[in-house]
Amino acid sequence: MLKTPRIGLREGFDADREIVQRFAEQGYQLEPEALEILRRIPGSRPDLMLRIIGGLDKSVAVIPASHLSSILSLAESRRSLSSSHSGAGPSPLANRGLPRDSSPAAGAELKCDITGRSTCEGGYEDFVRYFRDRYSRIREILSRRLNSRPIESLGKSTSGREVSLIGMIMDVKTTARGNRVIELEDPTGMVTAVIQKDAEIFEQSSLVVPDEVLGITGVSDGNGRIFVKSLLWPDMPNQTEPLEKGGGCALLLSDLHVGSKYFMEAAWRRFASWLNGEVEDPSGLAALVKYIVIAGDMVDGIGIYPGQEGDLAIKDIYEQYEAAAGCLNSIRKGISLIISPGNHDIVRQAEPQPALPEAIQKYFHGDVLFAGNPAWVTLGGVSVLIYHGRSIDDFVLRVPGLSYAAPEKAMVEMLKRRHLSPIYGSRVSIAPEREDHYVISRPPAILHCGHVHTVGIARYKGVAVINSGTWQSQTDFQKKMNIQPQPAIVPIVDLGTMKVRKLIFA
Ligand SMILES: [Fe+2]
Repeated sequence: MLKTPRIGLREGFDADREIVQRFAEQGYQLEPEALEILRRIPGSRPDLMLRIIGGLDKSVAVIPASHLSSILSLAESRRSLSSSHSGAGPSPLANRGLPRDSSPAAGAELKCDITGRSTCEGGYEDFVRYFRDRYSRIREILSRRLNSRPIESLGKSTSGREVSLIGMIMDVKTTARGNRVIELEDPTGMVTAVIQKDAEIFEQSSLVVPDEVLGITGVSDGNGRIFVKSLLWPDMPNQTEPLEKGGGCALLLSDLHVGSKYFMEAAWRRFASWLNGEVEDPSGLAALVKYIVIAGDMVDGIGIYPGQEGDLAIKDIYEQYEAAAGCLNSIRKGISLIISPGNHDIVRQAEPQPALPEAIQKYFHGDVLFAGNPAWVTLGGVSVLIYHGRSIDDFVLRVPGLSYAAPEKAMVEMLKRRHLSPIYGSRVSIAPEREDHYVISRPPAILHCGHVHTVGIARYKGVAVINSGTWQSQTDFQKKMNIQPQPAIVPIVDLGTMKVRKLIFA
């Protein structure tokens, strides 16, 4: 069965069908009353979808209305918390599309994030607008290298001719005969692209993921099908040198998980005394640090996964942040701190996430820039794209050859696709904002993620690609799952040379 088109022609489309179909794709039906409830919530349908399904027992086939009511009241309380504290609603700047004011943190500036600019109401039109924005921005990048035509022009007259098009992937699957079939759409229509199992590009086509935008060249059969000869990803410009250079050093951190029983407090103290010059530092690096960037999951949070209670040393979310602030407030002056949230933090779960609320910000002293997730910042002129990295879960699931042991490879896939989280509606819950904040519209000097608790460093076409690990030792759950975190390792970037090293405090 085809997925529902999102950017193509859809006159008379029924929003109910969209709801029913999206649940059906996940293997669930809805009670009529449940559909009724979903229809009535304008602002939360997309980010609720995964929450609703995530909270269900696997044996449930039909979702009862009662289940929705309990999920909704939880979401409502979270929402009122984040809107009263962080102002995720529209700001006067939203209409002008301007970034927020730049930071109080010396040398660090916020260029773009979602804070105060959320436009999403979760209606069907939001989906269309979101996907159209994604399509048109990535199409623009691709069209510099590919002379494409609209899908609607692939009529009889193109039979037997070579054609190129730029489409968004609706579906990709392997047939019983072992061929690969990709359904693509553009704003003018849909087409089926076929890659035979003995074709040279068959292996490459296994990298295609749903909802990404790519270019295809192949032979048209004049009847809505193309036999593919080549695939073109938008990719980064060919460049080997670092894109920008600045001064001083930046430490990249993430996933402190303060409040967890497993937070490595002793290792953190070793790190802080090194940074504060209280121990001998033969490398001389500690004195050069000007920035610390934290890419999410500063605290362990509460109610993030079933049974988390037993893993918590601090059970109150505000006390967790107070303890985290204590860790960071002990760091010497002269360092700017940039803090972006993750899925364990106290902001809405649907991404893009706004900056931490003011009620939390007030715990932190010194030069601190609170940014959203994802966020573009500059450190003394060097651009850093910060993203917590939840989509790495999707990449590892879908793209052959990727694993949690080498998160930098998944991050390189983001750069190739010019998108931080292309797969829609899987592990990452993305609110369909007017603008797709995940499109990598220009190359950053540094791409910084976390989330997976392993350290990964690579350089890809001039971009320093860094996953910053964690400060949480192996949890019981990770032990059972045979997941090996790499805690208390800090990547340090020399912003003058863009060289990256690892500092070990474990
Ligand atoms: Fe995370």
